[in-house]
Amino acid sequence: MVGSRTVEFRKPVLKGECKVLGDKSISHRAIMLGSIAKGRTEVTGFLSGEDCLRTIEIFKQLGVYIKREGEHVWIDSPGMKNWTAPADTLYAGNSGTTARLMLGILASSNVKSVLTGDASLSKRPMKRVTGPLQKMGALIHGDDFLPLTITGSKLTAIDYELPVASAQVKSAILFAGLNAEGMTTVKEIDVTRDHTERMLAQFGANVLRSDKTVSIEGGQTLQGSKVVVPGDISSAAFFMVAAAMLEGSSVDFINVGLNPTRTGIIDVLKAMGAKVVVTDRNGDDGEPFGNVNVTADSLRGIEIGGELIPKLIDEIPIIALLSTQAKGKTVIKDAAELRVKETDRITAVTEELKKMGADIEATEDGMIIHGPTVLKGASLSSYGDHRIGMMAAIAAYVADGPVHIEDPDCIAISYPNFFEHLYQLSAVEE
Ligand code: S3P
Repeated sequence: MVGSRTVEFRKPVLKGECKVLGDKSISHRAIMLGSIAKGRTEVTGFLSGEDCLRTIEIFKQLGVYIKREGEHVWIDSPGMKNWTAPADTLYAGNSGTTARLMLGILASSNVKSVLTGDASLSKRPMKRVTGPLQKMGALIHGDDFLPLTITGSKLTAIDYELPVASAQVKSAILFAGLNAEGMTTVKEIDVTRDHTERMLAQFGANVLRSDKTVSIEGGQTLQGSKVVVPGDISSAAFFMVAAAMLEGSSVDFINVGLNPTRTGIIDVLKAMGAKVVVTDRNGDDGEPFGNVNVTADSLRGIEIGGELIPKLIDEIPIIALLSTQAKGKTVIKDAAELRVKETDRITAVTEELKKMGADIEATEDGMIIHGPTVLKGASLSSYGDHRIGMMAAIAAYVADGPVHIEDPDCIAISYPNFFEHLYQLSAVEE
């Protein structure tokens, strides 16, 4: 049963603090590396969103002991060489990160498994991962899509040039390389999020990095570690944009991840004219984090493309909304990857914002938006995609009437307390 929700505001002034939940990408990797490693791993700040819970369930099926109390997770693993074969299929739900990274891990494990996903994930391309893994000798059966059967086997290292800028593909190959014979090297076309590389090092692996190249020697054994997950900048981005768009607003985001491969949203907010100040920066030896203040100011259109795209790929739906409130033309290009996300985000964003009266046009690899436009209330679909659902809800802040969102429950995939924050921030009086 798919629900709906109506959200209405009268252009509130947003003030106060916002502490978003833990980073999704880092939470997945903490569970994965804690399960690959032998011994105890402790994770704090874990994101209990649906995607990351899928990753936990999968490792439990492989015989890893995992206990979770809210944002705190304890993992006791026998190490990946001692996993037990799962009795049932492994279900990745809606989570592309779970599916793609697990393919790399399972291919070099000692178990045979079948990996499945929901309707959306079963339509997303897996060949980009299974292709290079098969070159390493992986035994993966199925088409380019889930479900896939993976028989863990001995792999051989490869040198691989990524045809797309994808941290999921890079990470899958690095995980497979960790257990392969020889030195695996991955070369990127554009730098993508590097959480896997940083965390591998934290668990004791020797990872060699230079510019756009990462290498890992096979046969390294990892030891359990402690992981502190910072707030997810991709979740904070929704309220950062809201603060930037609503005159008189100023919001402090506490303990947000500031890994430079993820901070494209800050660059864009600044370039469009919002005031952004970063303070208390910390954690530069692992995952950098800090506090970010965003204050509204007059906004102007800009061009977004090239190497910046992987640093804000998940933020493009909310940047499109921001652009409708900026003066002039915004061009988003080089972002064709959006077409193979949880939904085709170029089509979804364009269609939904058009319903609100936005001047927006889809291109093959992005969008062109002219602003500013006074958006009107409308009935919008989330397409079952958490980031489209959140964009629709934030659009209600600047709309002239109520926004009705079909299937808003998918937001729990990455931001279970999103609506709580939406109302909390807008309830603060000037
Ligand atoms: C992710 C990588 C990105 C991103 C996704 C999370 C990750 O996907 O869109 O939300 O955790 O590695 P791609 O690797 O497909 O670009």
